[in-house]
Amino acid sequence: MAPSHGIIWRRDPGRIFEAYARWAEGRGTAKAVIAYDTMWLSTEKMAHALLDGLAAGGYAARLFKLSVSDHSEIVKEILEAHAVLVGSPTINNGALPVVSSFLDELAGLRPGNKVGLTFGSYGWGGGALKVIEERLKAAKIELAAEPGPTVKWAPTPDDLRHCYDLGLEIAARIRD
Ligand SMILES: Cc1cc2nc3c(=O)[nH]c(=O)nc-3n(C[C@H](O)[C@H](O)[C@H](O)COP(=O)(O)O)c2cc1C
Repeated sequence: MAPSHGIIWRRDPGRIFEAYARWAEGRGTAKAVIAYDTMWLSTEKMAHALLDGLAAGGYAARLFKLSVSDHSEIVKEILEAHAVLVGSPTINNGALPVVSSFLDELAGLRPGNKVGLTFGSYGWGGGALKVIEERLKAAKIELAAEPGPTVKWAPTPDDLRHCYDLGLEIAARIRD
């Protein structure tokens, strides 16, 4: 172990240099990441509709529910993706704590060259999307739409179609 930096790579260190160069330049592959959490599944339904839209547009998107996923794994996927979509319902005028803490990690890394989108459900005043938008901007991620899709309580079929269409639109935008 190297003090405070972790393991020492004895074999093929070039592989590590190459990965860091790729991540630092924000060179992604045709991937998108959707990171979200939910209390009663409305935000999750939106996440699935966005995923379907991205997939129809040719983007292999990976979906991560933040409370049950390894955040380091998600960050690695984001570094190699073209788009990052982050969703949360509103709780106490803000985002779920697990979403906020994940965004703090991401803001520290400032992954360049990514398109972002926020989404989520709320009950009355909302507030989660604003928090997520601010953090994504702090992470230097360019937002595809501002505000992102937001629905009151459960999404209707029209709301889900809107999410699907946005997924398609983002796929077209990052492909160009
Ligand atoms: C503990 C709790 C706090 C909430 N706080 C707010 C709030 O401050 N503002 C708001 O607009 N909605 C609030 N809501 C409503 C949720 O945002 C709403 O139920 C939403 O549809 C949940 O989305 P989900 O199904 O993705 O969890 C709150 C709900 C709960 C359970």
